[in-house]
Amino acid sequence: MNQTTRRRALIAGNWKMNGGIAANAVLLEGIRSGANGLAAELAVCVPAPYLAQVQAALSGSPVAWGGQDLSLHASGAYTGEVSGAMLRDFDCQFVIVGHSERRSLHGETDAIVADKARQALACGLTPIVCVGETLEEREAGHTDSVVSRQLMAVVSALGQQLAKIVIAYEPVWAIGTGKTATPEMAQQVHAQMRALLVGVDPVAGRGVRLLYGGSMKPDNARDLLAMDDIDGGLIGGASLKADDFLAIAKAA
Ligand code: 13P
Repeated sequence: MNQTTRRRALIAGNWKMNGGIAANAVLLEGIRSGANGLAAELAVCVPAPYLAQVQAALSGSPVAWGGQDLSLHASGAYTGEVSGAMLRDFDCQFVIVGHSERRSLHGETDAIVADKARQALACGLTPIVCVGETLEEREAGHTDSVVSRQLMAVVSALGQQLAKIVIAYEPVWAIGTGKTATPEMAQQVHAQMRALLVGVDPVAGRGVRLLYGGSMKPDNARDLLAMDDIDGGLIGGASLKADDFLAIAKAA
């Protein structure tokens, strides 16, 4: 793909359950001060209690922010949950949906993930929908079928709204392990996802951004992001250090 048709890269940080008021202040100031003039779009997805802090620190900067999950429900007796409207109250643009940690630790099924993606869109949020196979599934040769199943569950639920989402391919075995998919391995899955999406809607399918996540670091980001169908990254550990996060953004 040449530069004129290239999708704008998105580098999104997933802080997971990390942070604290003092450490966040340092991290956010570091990100904000290095974020001007980058070709890539930047975002941080933070724990809900810090949304007000992030909103105050990043308003007026080129860096967007978002949540890491949202409730299926609009409001009501759902103790502990955070609604999409609440995320919008803090000017969130994004929300991660269906992260493998939500799928494996909180029992989120393909159907729940699809409903959450729909709920995010209904609230005016851009869902970053995560898909990816476990090591066991990869070794059994099931990567394509698992990723296709996870992807199509969401895409078929969204109808005409495909153009409004972001997808992140995060092989579970590469998350937080220091093991990254090689650029060729990741591109192969991304190309397969692209073909599926183009089959559903040629224009939207070509425009949807497909992020890679799983031990993306400053030293491997450039090669991953150079692949045709890798349009950015969903960054865990390396998003907790401003220099590393910005170095990845610069590689995009
Ligand atoms: P790491 O970058 O720490 O491997 O985490 C990836 C991830 O799960 C982002 O959502």
